[in-house]
Amino acid sequence: MPALIAPSILAADFANLQRDIEMINKSDADWLHIDIMDGMFVPNISFGMPVMAAIQKHSTKPLDVHLMIEQPERYLETFKELGAFQITVHLESCKHLHRTIQQIKALGIKAGVALNPHSNIQELEYVISNLDLVCVMSVNPGFGGQKFIPLTYEKVSHLKEMIVTRGSEALVQVDGGINEEIGVKLANRGADVLVAGSFIFNSKDPIATISDLKKKLNELEQ
Ligand code: DX5
Ligand code: ZN
Repeated sequence: MPALIAPSILAADFANLQRDIEMINKSDADWLHIDIMDGMFVPNISFGMPVMAAIQKHSTKPLDVHLMIEQPERYLETFKELGAFQITVHLESCKHLHRTIQQIKALGIKAGVALNPHSNIQELEYVISNLDLVCVMSVNPGFGGQKFIPLTYEKVSHLKEMIVTRGSEALVQVDGGINEEIGVKLANRGADVLVAGSFIFNSKDPIATISDLKKKLNELEQ
C-alpha cells in the first residue's frame, strides 16, 4: 500500500480555518492530522475542544488526533465524541500505557502511541501487538516548521522490523519536518503515514503539493 498523507492542521491559517479544511477536503490527502498541545507536556498550546468541533463540522477526511498532553486518559472520550477516528497518545505522558491503549480501543476507535526523538522503540515491545499505529516523532513535539532529525530513518527501519517480528498490524507514522524528498526516503524505509504541516500549507498550491507527493509515493509501489 502506498504511504498515506496526513496534512497537519497546525500549519493552517486559523483565521481561515474553514477555507483551509475545505481545501484539504478537495485534495488527495488521506487523513487530517490534529495536534492538541497543553503547554505542559510540550512547551506550546495549540487549540482545544471548540476548534476541534469546528474542524469536525467541516472536514470530510478521517480525523487523526495527536494528543501532546499530560494524562491524556482524561480526554479520550471527549475527542472520540469530537470525531476522532484514531487517538495517538505519547509514551512519555502515560504512566499506564497499556491501560490507556485499552481505553482508546474500548471507545471503538483506533489507538496509536507516539515516541519522542529520544525514546527507544523497545519500550513498545509488549504493547505493539495491540496498536493500530506508532507515531515516530521526527522533531521534538510542540511546534510546526522544525528541522527533520535524520536518525529517524534508522528508527523507522528498526520499528518496522519489530512490527513484522511481533506480527503486529500497526502502521508506522512519521511526524515533523517532512517534505517531498524526506517523505519518499521514509516511505522507502517502511513508513506508512506521513504527517506534513508547513511543507503543505506554506506551499503555493497545497492541493498540487499533496497530489505531487501522492504520485511519488504511488510510483514507489510499482
Ligand atoms: C509537532 C506536531 C506536528 C507538526 C508538523 O509537534 O506534532 O504534527 O504540526 O509540522 P511540520 O510538518 O511543519 O513539521
Ligand atoms: Zn502531530
